Amino acid sequence: MEEERIVDNSLQKDDELLELSLRPQTLKQYIGQSKVKEELAIYITAAKTRQEALDHVLLYGPPGLGKTTLAKVIANEMAVGFKTTSGPAIEKPGDLVAVLNELEPGDVLFIDEIHRLPRVAEEVLYSAMEDFYVDIMVGQGPTAHPVRFPLPPFTLVGATTRAGMLAKPLRDRFGIVSHLSYYTESDLTTILMRSATIFNTQLMTAGAHELARRSRGTPRIANRLLKRVRDYAEVKGNGIVDQEVAMTALALLGVDSVGLDQVDQKLLHAIIELYHGGPVGLSTIAVNISEETETVEDMYEPYLIQLGFLKRTARGRMATAKAYAHLGLPFTEAEE
Ligand code: ADE
Repeated sequence: MEEERIVDNSLQKDDELLELSLRPQTLKQYIGQSKVKEELAIYITAAKTRQEALDHVLLYGPPGLGKTTLAKVIANEMAVGFKTTSGPAIEKPGDLVAVLNELEPGDVLFIDEIHRLPRVAEEVLYSAMEDFYVDIMVGQGPTAHPVRFPLPPFTLVGATTRAGMLAKPLRDRFGIVSHLSYYTESDLTTILMRSATIFNTQLMTAGAHELARRSRGTPRIANRLLKRVRDYAEVKGNGIVDQEVAMTALALLGVDSVGLDQVDQKLLHAIIELYHGGPVGLSTIAVNISEETETVEDMYEPYLIQLGFLKRTARGRMATAKAYAHLGLPFTEAEE
């Protein structure tokens, strides 16, 4: 897709600064995900009391829910250093060794999109995670031999959109596995009110609710919509974001009453009108909206499924009666 989606939940260029300034620093400031926070608080306290590095943590869940933020919060709570890289940034084992070599005792190493690490680099992680060493091949040809380099104890925090995408040997090396789920409207409202304070924007409660309802359970999207709606309020109104301003600005952005944009609608229309509601294969859907299958699976489907608009069946994806109703189309029962 060439066009930028306002409700795209991947990190975009101007999100980085925004997220840096909005990012909570402590577990207490981190809103929502209460089960994950409660568990982490216990493990962090225990590790600190024993003066050990925290066990490795795998965070999984849809993009934009605050996995990087939470990794940084873990480092803050442990009062240790924070280093960060990502699966796609590591091309060969040496790249990963270079990162590991920089670690100080107790540090948190955050690897975003850890499922995209090349297999050869992933294998370096096994000994690093389990016993804090790496074996590096030295010399060439018949004299080549491994040399063992010790590492300081550290905490790997890995982030991925789906835990099932990780190879089992890697997944098994995480002592703590936490699933981040979509935020409730109430949590998103709280996040939006906090962001508005940081932005120095007057956001009325009803305006915050309107934004929260249309943010796909995702703080990154909520904050991005708030920025756009604030612009609208400043240019077209008196700068105050109330419900009416939010509704008008969101309509202008093409975000509908439940947070769907034109691409989501096109996806549902394709299933309903071209394939009689399904079942239809993922790759067919992807072709119809000119997207990669992985993007459809990670960015579009989870929210449509969460809303109850889309079903995954053994024979493919199906639009539900609820989807037909949302689009104002007559529902005809399809065969599964
Ligand atoms: N900003 C983005 N995600 C947040 C969260 N979970 N808590 C507080 N502020 C946030």
